[in-house]
Amino acid sequence: MNIKYIKNGTLNAKELITVFKDVGWNKQVDNIVDAFKHSFYVLAYDDEKLIGFARAISDGHYYTGIYDVIVKKDYQKNGIGKKLVNFLLEEYKGTYFFLTSTEGNKPFYERCGFKENQNGMWIPK
Ligand SMILES: CC(C)(COP(=O)(O)OP(=O)(O)OC[C@H]1O[C@@H](n2cnc3c(N)ncnc32)[C@H](O)[C@@H]1OP(=O)(O)O)[C@@H](O)C(=O)NCCC(=O)NCCS
Repeated sequence: MNIKYIKNGTLNAKELITVFKDVGWNKQVDNIVDAFKHSFYVLAYDDEKLIGFARAISDGHYYTGIYDVIVKKDYQKNGIGKKLVNFLLEEYKGTYFFLTSTEGNKPFYERCGFKENQNGMWIPK
């Protein structure tokens, strides 16, 4: 396994969707590249194959939200997810970071340094 990480690299909608689908997420193909372009993102490749990514939206000074942290199933539990998150934490060092974990993944984010916030709220779609 030869994993390389590329910040704000070239985006390909089909490649992104393949990764989302691998972990059972449905995303609209039409909007996905645009959504990434409005974010700071890191792409993880095994040679030429996209195998994961993570993205953040920040005001650059105070607050940063983390979204779409995904590693393809065959590549999970190799430290790739943590590395992706660390790129985002490094990029916006000094801001507050927020995210909503998916079911069962709180321990992963705890390993990345996150703590539970009992007052977090959202409006589900
Ligand atoms: C969550 C996800 C990104 C983790 O990626 P990963 O590459 O497997 O994670 P890492 O190997 O970097 O794990 C880092 C640490 O967290 C631990 N960890 C990872 N997932 C875990 C889980 N579900 N439960 C408990 N611990 C977990 C690892 O064992 C590792 O521990 P260590 O630091 O002691 O070695 C990956 O499982 C995934 O893509 N899941 C599906 C999509 C998803 O739900 N993403 C979260 C969006 S909010």
